[in-house]
Amino acid sequence: MLKNKTIVLGITGGIAAYKAVDLASKLTQAGARVEVVMTEAATKFVTPLTLRNITHRQVVTDMYETASEWSEEHIALAEAAAAVVIAPATANTIARLATGIADNMLGTVVLATKAPVIIAPAMNDAMYTNSVTQKNITALKARGFTFIEPEYGRLASGKTGKGRLPDTATIIKAIEKALGQKQDLKNKRIVVTAGGTREPIDPVRHIGNRSSGKMGYALSEAARDRGAKVTLVAANVTLEEPSGVDVIKVKTASEMKRAVSGAVKKADALIMAAAPADYQPEIIAEAKIKKEAAQTLTLKLVKTPDILREVQGDFLRVGFAAESENIIANAKKKLIEKRLDLIVANDITKTDSGFDADTNRIIIIDKKGKAEKLPLMSKREAAERILDRVRGLAGQGGR
Ligand code: CTP
Repeated sequence: MLKNKTIVLGITGGIAAYKAVDLASKLTQAGARVEVVMTEAATKFVTPLTLRNITHRQVVTDMYETASEWSEEHIALAEAAAAVVIAPATANTIARLATGIADNMLGTVVLATKAPVIIAPAMNDAMYTNSVTQKNITALKARGFTFIEPEYGRLASGKTGKGRLPDTATIIKAIEKALGQKQDLKNKRIVVTAGGTREPIDPVRHIGNRSSGKMGYALSEAARDRGAKVTLVAANVTLEEPSGVDVIKVKTASEMKRAVSGAVKKADALIMAAAPADYQPEIIAEAKIKKEAAQTLTLKLVKTPDILREVQGDFLRVGFAAESENIIANAKKKLIEKRLDLIVANDITKTDSGFDADTNRIIIIDKKGKAEKLPLMSKREAAERILDRVRGLAGQGGR
């Protein structure tokens, strides 16, 4: 699997940098083209010459970062990479990557690459468990980066703790897994909606709902990682925007309808994970409604467009059904009424699934009425399972 693949090996300045020599050696022996990129700090722990001799290739270090052609070369390197591996990754590098800082070669490559990025942190356990480091790791994971957990054991400080770089075999296994990741949605155009719409009452108030957008974001990231070209129509979501995805921000159901109608024109699939409001105030007050005006306030609500029902076309159509009772029956009804290929039903009365949870318990129902009931899983895993089904249908020539 590694044969003839370009693996960019990023080495940063930690005591475990010497172990990267073994990793570079084993990857080279397996037939990979190993392009080493070292931070300046890394060169204090292990010499570029050692790595050049092992990989038989020029080693990139920040010491040469003056001529502009080098930066061009790094874009080329980012594009050629089948995978980027950073081992060891210091807390400092993780923090830089999390904020997108690209003031060194490694940062530039990571920012520019579309290849999977695998990070093996190695550091003092206090630094590893520090909430800032953990927050950075969580943010990078959300962007699709893979992390290899450091191992527990004796650290350079002499103390024992969690922070050791795992052995070469473990790192290679993670690289192989990333390389083997399905690209089964390559060049498919998928439109995903996420979040909940807000329908204004006056300049300061709105009617909204509890959708967090997590399921739609997980779907966008999973589809992107499987090679799809993703357009994400997001309504009032506060999550970090996924990289490599076209994001269109909307507020109301009408705006969402307009965005979706435009985006589906060339799409292969539409996945409506958003919760558009069903009603909107008939009149939006131009000025803030004052409470002195009356003891009670009556709002007249009119229906919003039912996006999924109204936006039809030659693409796969996947809906969601957030239900609190008669889950399967209600979902099947929506599948037929909205002319869907699949509907994903979930029980919103449970706290571990549905609104704002990181996990979900879904039932995928197809046009034949067959229901696939899945156990509790992360929203990312649930997204993968939904995309497996989308892929299955697309493979049969669409609808
Ligand atoms: N949906 C839509 N436009 C709306 C409301 C819902 O496109 N105005 C989509 C949702 O994104 C979801 C599916 O329709 O994929 C079902 O949404 P849900 O709220 O469960 O169903 P409704 O049709 O709104 O029915 P009800 O609220 O009465 O259960």
